[in-house]
Amino acid sequence: MDRRTLLTRIVKGFSLTGLAFVTYPFIKAWIPSFDNTINMDIDISDLKPGENKVVHWLGRNIIMVKRDPATVEEITKPEVDLKDPDSLGSMQPEFAKNPFRSLRPDLFVAFTNCTHLGCEVAHQDDQFKCPCHQSDYDAAGRVLEGAAAPRNLDVPNYRYVSNQMIRLEKLDT
Ligand code: FES
Repeated sequence: MDRRTLLTRIVKGFSLTGLAFVTYPFIKAWIPSFDNTINMDIDISDLKPGENKVVHWLGRNIIMVKRDPATVEEITKPEVDLKDPDSLGSMQPEFAKNPFRSLRPDLFVAFTNCTHLGCEVAHQDDQFKCPCHQSDYDAAGRVLEGAAAPRNLDVPNYRYVSNQMIRLEKLDT
């Protein structure tokens, strides 16, 4: 290789490297950030006992309900008949397979879609009520016996990133 060819190649190499540095931010801006779109952090510090908040995540609504101590107590001794009291046939992460169906007894997190035909349930008097065919769920999202809905409310995957902040995280399927 002669000296002229070598110099040409070196200049071309530097040019391509420079071009990559200049265009990288633009290309990066076009690529969706899955960290931002799949995980969602929610501040729960403003929720008082009995209150709830709803967020939209991955095309569905998710409700977070702050339970008061009386509600927590009621969940362990349900006074109504439940279709699936132990949530054996329900859709939830492993950590939610407990009577509260949540990581912490004082906060319930669930998808708001009724498990019958997907209508949005309403949180009312410590229960979840479906307006479409009147399926009722208790404070842990467990469907009452006799309802049209076949299973308890679905629970998304989430974790606490601090005492007052939860992170919704999509599980790999
Ligand atoms: Fe909820 Fe039918 S969609 S009971």
